[in-house]
Amino acid sequence: IPFTGAPMSLLDIVSLPDPVLRRKARKVTVFDKELQTLIDNMIHTMREAPGVGLAAPQVGESIRLVVVEYPDTDDDEPDEDAPKKLYVMVNPEIVETSEDKELGVEGCLSVPGLVGEVERHTRIVVKGLNRQGKPMKVKVKGWMARIFQHEIDHLDGIVFPDRATRVWQPREGEELPLD
Ligand code: NI
Repeated sequence: IPFTGAPMSLLDIVSLPDPVLRRKARKVTVFDKELQTLIDNMIHTMREAPGVGLAAPQVGESIRLVVVEYPDTDDDEPDEDAPKKLYVMVNPEIVETSEDKELGVEGCLSVPGLVGEVERHTRIVVKGLNRQGKPMKVKVKGWMARIFQHEIDHLDGIVFPDRATRVWQPREGEELPLD
């Protein structure tokens, strides 16, 4: 087996009522090797979960960093093998939001056994830094926009049940993308 880099580690995902999920995370100012390792491990952990997004507080690191991976398509229910787009964003900030909002059902890797209906902006613009600290800006809509709003909430100590119009325990077989 070819060795292509540092081995990645699976990180422990914390869940409520862990206080790190309620803290306002601090901005990242240093883009060192340690940060790169954390990012790689978060991507690995998100994929293994499996989840569609992960925020650093969910692995016990109270810093403003999120990873998101979801099919880049207009389709509301994309095929399992649809090509996915990966975003790594440091210090993300929502700078524009659509007036339109829509309800959707969300789950969260840190809130096991519960889903909820949450209203989110259908389109947003997010500004932040890439993993090397260079400025980046993305325009996203639909599910991708929903995931970004969910992850950025995590950086401010907010979890989806805080915003949900209703929450429930999913029936067996009722599957949802988790972040
Ligand atoms: Ni979450």
